[in-house]
Formats: sequence, C-alpha cells, structure tokens
Amino acid sequence: MNHQRKTNKSASDGGRNKSTGVVSQNLDELKYIQNRYLELMQSLLTGTLYRDASLMPFGSEVFDQKLRERGLDWPSQALTMIGVKRLANLRALTESVILDNVPGDLIETGVWRGGACILMRAILHAHNINDRNVWVADSFMGLPPANEKQYPEDAGSDFHTFEELAVSLEEVQDNFKIYGLLDEQTKFLKGWFKDTLPSAKIGQLALMRLDGDMYESTMDALTALYPKLSPNGYVIIDDYHVVPECRVAVKDYCRAHGVEPEIEEIDGVGVYWRKPATVESGPEKTRRLKVEASPAAQVSSLYQSVVKLSQSTLTRLSKAIAERDNRIVELNRSLAEKELRVSGLNKGLAERDCKIVELNQLIAERDSQVVEFNRSLAEKELQITGLNQGIAERDRRIVELMESTSWRVSFPIRVVKNILKIPWRYFTKSSENK
Ligand SMILES: C[S@@+](CC[C@H](N)C(=O)[O-])C[C@H]1O[C@@H](n2cnc3c(N)ncnc32)[C@H](O)[C@@H]1O
Repeated sequence: MNHQRKTNKSASDGGRNKSTGVVSQNLDELKYIQNRYLELMQSLLTGTLYRDASLMPFGSEVFDQKLRERGLDWPSQALTMIGVKRLANLRALTESVILDNVPGDLIETGVWRGGACILMRAILHAHNINDRNVWVADSFMGLPPANEKQYPEDAGSDFHTFEELAVSLEEVQDNFKIYGLLDEQTKFLKGWFKDTLPSAKIGQLALMRLDGDMYESTMDALTALYPKLSPNGYVIIDDYHVVPECRVAVKDYCRAHGVEPEIEEIDGVGVYWRKPATVESGPEKTRRLKVEASPAAQVSSLYQSVVKLSQSTLTRLSKAIAERDNRIVELNRSLAEKELRVSGLNKGLAERDCKIVELNQLIAERDSQVVEFNRSLAEKELQITGLNQGIAERDRRIVELMESTSWRVSFPIRVVKNILKIPWRYFTKSSENK
C-alpha cells in the first residue's frame, strides 16, 4: 500500500525531481520495504504474529509474550526459540557487518528448526547480497551425550535426552523452502561439530552465532571457527548466562588464545562481542550500503517478496485455522456423543433412584408392621404375665385353704374332694413332692 502511495507521489511531482532526488527517494523506499519484510519475518519466525503457544516442558501450552521476548520458552510452531530480543540482535549485527563491509559468511552452530539461519538468509535477500553464504551447522538429531572424560564440565548434562531438540535436516530445509529462501547461498553441515566444523569449506566469517548448549559444543565451534572470523566480525553466545558450561567454555577458550572480549549484553541470556580490528585491517570504516542492483529494482523485488510472504503466511494461517476448526468440529461431535451417553446413564440412574424410593417405601411399611406386631406382642406378654400372676394368686390361695386348720375354711375343698373323689394327698403341701 505504502509502496504504491510513494511511487504515485514521485510520479505526480511533474518531473521536478532531479535524478538524485529520485535515487534518494528510492533508497528511502528500499529501506522502508526492507524493514517491513524483515519485521514480518521476525514476527513470523518467533511466532509472536500468531501468538504461538509454548511447548511443554519449557512453557505452559499457552502463548506468553514475556517469555517469548527473552526466548525463555520452547515454541510449539515457531521456527526459533531464541525469542524476540536475541533475534533482533542477530538482525542488527548482521546488518552491521553488511553496512561495515566486514568480509565473510554467516554461521549458526546449533540451529534446531532453523529460524535464526532463515532470518540471516532473509537479511542477505533484503540487502540483495549474493556473495555471502549462510552456514547451517547441526547434528539434525539433537545434542550429543556428555563426553565427561574429555569435558568434565558437561557431566550431568541431559539435553541429549530431549527428543524435541532433534529436528531433521529435511525438516529444516522445508522450513527454508516455506520462506522461499532455500538456495545455493545456504550451506548445510550435518553431523557433530567436532567432525564437521574443522573440515568445512568455510573461508572467512563475518558473524558466528553459537547455540550448542554445552561446553563441548561451544568449545568445538570456537576452536574451529574463531580463527576464521574477520576483524570487526561478531561472535554471539546464545546461552552465556543460562548454561554455565557455555560461559566456562568461552572463558577457557579466550584465556588459552589470549582473546580479551568486550562482552555486550543482549537480553540477560545471550551476549556478543566484536573481534577487534587488527593493524592490517585498519581502523573501522563506516561505509555506505553496498547497492548492486538499482534501488528501484530492489524495491520492486522486495515488494514481491513481502507480497509472497504475506500470501503464503495467509495460506498457512488459513490452513491452520481450518485444521483447528475441523478439530473443534470433531471435539464437538465426540462431546455430543459423550453427552448422549451421560444422559442415557442419567436416565438409568433416575430409574434406579425411583426403584430405591419404592423399595424404601416398602421397607418403611414393613417396619411399621413390625412395630405394630411388637406392640401387640408386648400387650399379649403383659396379658400372659397378668394371667400368670392371677393363676399364682389362685394357687397361693388354694394352698392357704388346704393348709388351713379351720374346718369352716376348708369345708368347700372337702366337698369338692368328695365329689371328685380326689385322694387327699393332692390337697396338702407335701403333695408338691409327689
Ligand atoms: C537450543 S538448540 C538451538 C536453537 C536455535 N539456535 C534456534 O534458533 O532456535 C541446540 C541445537 O544444537 C544442536 N547441537 C548441540 N550440540 C551439538 C553438537 N556438538 N553437534 C551438532 N549439533 C549440536 C542440537 O541438535 C540443537 O539443534
């Protein structure tokens, strides 16, 4: 949009611009479009543009801007884990070596999904640099197990156990392809640093970014590459403050080779220093941006890149949204099925509850019958006790009568005895023993 607006303005100047004015306007436009392109790349590569969630165990499965700023989480989709600030630092230092004409290629040792290298390649593209390469060095199968004998500083390092850190060469190449940046200017070095770096056909380096997370990986990279770094070139140590072994390796290397780095902070995690200029290389000169193609041609080519990038980003984001939508539909369907099952179970449960209520009612009725039975039993027992007491009273009175010596009192018994012809012994106390 903006590009169009500025172009129209230059056309509507009615030829008042001299050729120098046109060139300077084109240069402004070039800077503008370079910046837009690289900013878009940065926000895509760090995942901040689409609020990319974190990957467990280094994050909480949601996007956290603060963590992503300093590269303190592992992104789930984004192509670099170094975060916004260290990626911006990489851009600043890469543009600095371009602007200052520091000769040599660019390298990262330890690339993971390749995001930082993709940005370096994009910067070369943005500045139309065709005579520098980006070296992409990694095992493409994760970190090596600690070699405790040779590097006791790495004892206990368990980075090699993290599968998430093993990203294949094909996957990294695909990631370059997605951004339209897989070409001859990108060189891949596959294998352990100790095997690949010493023999790599690297001439001079203008920038080396070390992100191997171990003493061995940092030491191997410094040993093989620091001598190739041009004066005024940069060294970046990604994990200087968070992986102590890296810091020790830097200090050991510098002490052994008489290097006295002026360490600069990036974000409290990573650091960098600039290799001092030698007497031969002369004092640092600030040169103008090297322009090989005409600015207008570069603007139009970069404008195309931005459009392509936006389109491919839109396509990928739409695809991701469609995938999420499908997943949501699937989840909703399985939720509906579960709800159906739950409602079936609830119905069964309600029927059981009804039965339980009925059974409880029956039990209550039985209980009240039992209470009723118990009460009438108690009454009967009371009656029996009363009858027993009456019988006992009668028995006592008969015995009293029987044992009475008064003829008048015992007269009725004698009459009964005579009528029934019962032997007398049955009416005396001693009869109980018979
Ligand atoms: C923390 S990741 C790098 C992150 C990456 N710079 C980024 O931008 O996201 C560490 C990488 O270093 C690689 N690595 C570590 N030590 C290595 C070694 N000695 N040889 C080869 N690759 C190594 C691992 O395979 C892994 O891809």
